This record gives sequence, structure tokens and C-alpha cells, in this order.
Amino acid sequence: MVNIADRYGDVQEYYFSQKLREVAQLNAAGKNVINLGIGSPDMAPPRQAVEALCAAAHNGNAHGYQGYKGTPALRQAFSDWYATYYAVALDPETEVLPLMGSKEGITYISNAYLNAGDEVLVPNPGYPAYSAATKAAGGVVRHYNLREETGWLPNLEELQQQDLSRVKLMWANYPHMPTGAKASKAALAQLVDFAERHDILLCHDNPYSFILIDRPESILSVKGVTAHVLELNSLSKSHNMAGWRVGVLTGHPQHIANVLIAKSNVDSGMFLGIQQAAIEALKQPQAWFEELNTHYAERRKLVWQIMETLDCRYSTEQAGLFVWGRPPEEVNVEQLVDELLYEAGVFITPGFIFGTNGQRYIRVSLCADNGQLQRALERIKAFKNIKIKKS
Ligand SMILES: Cc1ncc(COP(=O)(O)O)c(C=O)c1O
Repeated sequence: MVNIADRYGDVQEYYFSQKLREVAQLNAAGKNVINLGIGSPDMAPPRQAVEALCAAAHNGNAHGYQGYKGTPALRQAFSDWYATYYAVALDPETEVLPLMGSKEGITYISNAYLNAGDEVLVPNPGYPAYSAATKAAGGVVRHYNLREETGWLPNLEELQQQDLSRVKLMWANYPHMPTGAKASKAALAQLVDFAERHDILLCHDNPYSFILIDRPESILSVKGVTAHVLELNSLSKSHNMAGWRVGVLTGHPQHIANVLIAKSNVDSGMFLGIQQAAIEALKQPQAWFEELNTHYAERRKLVWQIMETLDCRYSTEQAGLFVWGRPPEEVNVEQLVDELLYEAGVFITPGFIFGTNGQRYIRVSLCADNGQLQRALERIKAFKNIKIKKS
């Protein structure tokens, strides 16, 4: 048997890829699990986007390979979106690179910049793809701590005291997944300043900036486009288009050109219909986000009740598609998550998958309607009553 390459040696299969198989098996056995694990929006994308996709699918000229850096119209639409919502000016020709979701951008950035042994600062807790992409590209992960006591923001003073000479990239992500923490403009400015002082390329991953937040923020609004900052963005969460795979990389023309080298040797462009749909999605007015957030705010109240039923501590100030909470110290979190799955039929995410600093926490998704959340709440209450009786 031929072995997997060494660089994948300690990269595990993605947690959800494996866990959702388990959920599927339970469902096949009639368990009807309520999935509050993943952040895959269940509400409809903008109607105009769906219509644009259908129209393109009926157009005989839409089916060929597309350009590697998206159509000029899509790049213009991303540039207009950044100007409207983030007050950031981007040259659509050189500073915008449409992607098939921001997750692929994480891999392309890692492939484009990392030589064997180069170090990458990765948030703990954080999105697991940063570490996986770093290792797969031959880089070395250096976790930096995010802690509840400091609002899940990095302690840059502490980091500065370490030897950073081999660090080439740094991942940051605010509003932060999984904790829902927000970063003020001043906090983003400190990150930019840190990257400049240490000659690090700061990659800000920004897919949650429209969810349960008053004003979306881009790290590019700190100083505009500069040599030390890149930003990934996505329509997955903001426009309910996770399965369509549309994201974008924004930043300095030289970086866009470098990442395009990595990308254009892997994929062969995005279906024209999806690009035209994305253009329509990007034109949505403020009212689109307001409507979306009305639903998420209602759902969040039910998830808060789930957190309270489980005696979790949580902040009501979180942004993004999840609620992050801390069960009491005596609770074995992994065991709780498994019991909820197997005994209550509710799947939630254990915080350990986001890093050691997430070990004592759980994450519950808002991507389920009020009826499902209500049912999940009832199941969890019943589960808890049984536990209390047993003890
Ligand atoms: C922090 C973070 N970045 C990126 C992604 C991936 O987004 P996309 O669907 O654009 O690949 C996710 C999705 O869960 C995420 O939580």
C-alpha cells in the first residue's frame, strides 16, 4: 500500500467530515438528529441570485471554462461591495481575486508563501483549516493564545517577546469563529501595526462581518491596501450561499498575483452562472442583512435558552452564526457532546476541535429554524431531567 505523504502525517480528516457520517448513521437508524453543529445557513439566497443562475444555465454560451480570476463584472461587484459596506477602495483589476469559497483561499495563500519550516501564527481557538493548510504546505504552526479574559483578542505584547524571525504569515479572524468575539477598529489597527513591525503577512479571514453585528468592518479600512495585509471574504454566510462556493481575496496587487499562481494551477475558473448570481447577491441593499439578522436574533434567544439549560456561561455580545458557551467546570465536555448526540438526538460542536483553549467550551449553530431549535431545547431539557433523576 502506498502511504500518504508525510506533510499530511498529523493532519486529521476534517472533524465534521467524520462526525457527520456518524450523524447520518444515527439518522439512518431513525434517530432524526437535530444538527446544530455546522454553520451552513439554511435560509434562501437572494432571489435575484437564483434567477441569474437559472438564466445563465439556459444560456448556451455560459458553459465553457471561465477566466482564472473571475469575470471583470464580478471583480467590479466585489469592489463596489467593499466600497459600500466597508468604505474600502479596491482596484477591481489588481486588488480583487474571486475564489470558490474562502476556504480554498486559505490553502492557496499557504501554498503561495510557505517554504518548508516557515512559521505561521494561528489562533487558538480558531478555524481548523489554518493549521491544516499550514502543515500541508510544509509550514510550521505556532499557535497564539486567545482567552476569554482578554475578549479573545491576541496578547501582542506577549507575542512580541518571542522570536518571530521565522514567522511569515499570521491568521486572524474577527468577528471570531468559534467565540463570536468582535475586534474594534483599534484592535484591528494593532494587528496591522504588529504585522508591519515584524514583517509578517497578516491574513484576515472575514466571513462573519454581516452576521449579528451593527456595522461590518474590514481590516483593509485600517490603512487601505498595504504590503502586509490580505483579507478573505465570502458569500457563504452573508448571503446564504455556502454551497455555491463564492469567496474573494482582497489586497495588494503583488499578493493577488502570487496567490493567482497557486490558484490558476489548480482550478479552471468558476461557472459563469455562479459568478453572475454572486454579482446579484453583492448588490443586495442593507435591508437584506437587516432581515437576515432579525431571524438570527430570534434564533439566538432559543440558543441562549439551550445554553442556560446546560448551565453554560456565555456572552450575549457575540457576532456570527454561533453561540459559544462554557459548561460548568465539573462537566466532561466531550462526554456531554456525545451524550447529547446519542441520548438527546442533538448534535452540537465540542470546543476542543478549535484548539486547546476551546477545550472547556461548546458551540451551538444558529443555522436551524425556530421549530428545530425549540425541539432541540425540549430534548435537552428532557435529557437533563433524566440526568438529574439518575444522580
Ligand atoms: C472562520 C471561517 N473561515 C472560513 C470559512 C469558510 O468559508 P467558505 O464557505 O467561504 O469557504 C468558515 C466556514 O465555516 C469559517 O468559519
